[in-house]
Amino acid sequence: MESRYLAALSGRNEGAPPLWIMRQAGRYLPEYRELRKKHRFETMMETPELAYQVTKMPLERFDLDAAILFSDILPVCRTVGGKVAFVEGKGPVVDFNFEKFAVECGVESLQFVEKAIRLLKPDLSVPLIGFAGGPFTVASYLIEGGGVGDLKKVKRAIAERREELHRLLSLLTDQTIDYLLMQVEAGVDAIQLFDTWAGMLDPCAFQEFVLPYNQKIFAALSGKVPTIFFGRGLGSHLHLLKEIGATGIGVDQTVDLSYARAFLGNEVVLQGNLDPGFLYGSKDSVVEQVKKVLEKMKGDPAYIFNFGYGILPDVRPEVVEWIVETVKQKVTV
Ligand code: CP3
Repeated sequence: MESRYLAALSGRNEGAPPLWIMRQAGRYLPEYRELRKKHRFETMMETPELAYQVTKMPLERFDLDAAILFSDILPVCRTVGGKVAFVEGKGPVVDFNFEKFAVECGVESLQFVEKAIRLLKPDLSVPLIGFAGGPFTVASYLIEGGGVGDLKKVKRAIAERREELHRLLSLLTDQTIDYLLMQVEAGVDAIQLFDTWAGMLDPCAFQEFVLPYNQKIFAALSGKVPTIFFGRGLGSHLHLLKEIGATGIGVDQTVDLSYARAFLGNEVVLQGNLDPGFLYGSKDSVVEQVKKVLEKMKGDPAYIFNFGYGILPDVRPEVVEWIVETVKQKVTV
């Protein structure tokens, strides 16, 4: 039977929408936290057998329609000379010289990803999603030195160091294309580009610093695998997303899905957008929120259920079970 996820990506899904969850392979799972006690996050990403194990964890618990490779968007930083450390309780800290930078190595330095994909593919019963960060979001971590906050340094660079910023985005775009082609070659079934912070730019800056680079990436993948562009707060950028060249668009909870469908037309696949902040209530309240999202996209053949943003570490795993049951129409409240 064809996977629901791939059917939706080709606009032909019937019945319940497919679902997967951003950050499904992560800290809300006790078995992840257990394994994580024994290894650093970097070690888990860079050891194909561990990445294999973590990628499969959520699938062993829940009836999800896709797997996403356990990795991160930041390893690609090393190709342009950025050194990333994931600091306990703080998140990523990035050491990068924005005064003087160049390509330092190619994506062969990320071959652990290719190996993990090759291990996973024969053992999965659902499609495997590969991914990378959008050049703008990755550049933001490089320039800000870690957590992006209000993008002060990036915005200063837009005002004062436009040329260098374009040069960095251009280098990252080429590396990201190589990196994603490596993942496609290894067997991923679809690609999601996480440009999480691109929506923090006004539409003009988005047009200059996000659109052309992402268009180049999606053009390089065109005809190979279906692609999804994801960002937060994209409500004022929908007209630009029409031109981005991805098979689908993943939106956060600030965008109305039925409005996005009407505005973007039936050609594009839509993914989203349950507010992950709604996962802390009673079962009835969670089910009600899921149903609100489902109602908006009822019968839509090109819709994938997801959250508006990644699941947070303090969510109880049984909440995911309620959500899966509701999306699969096994729950009546
Ligand atoms: O399950 C999945 O979705 C696959 C794995 C995945 C991770 N990060 C694992 C991770 C994916 C797709 C990402 C993407 C990612 N990483 C993004 C884009 C999407 C988003 O969430 O905005 C960004 C901006 C990052 C950068 C990043 N990585 C941050 C800011 C942090 C620290 C904050 C946090 O949420 O922990 C990480 C660490 C990270 N990435 C963890 C995991 C499981 C936690 C590591 C740990 O301490 O165990």
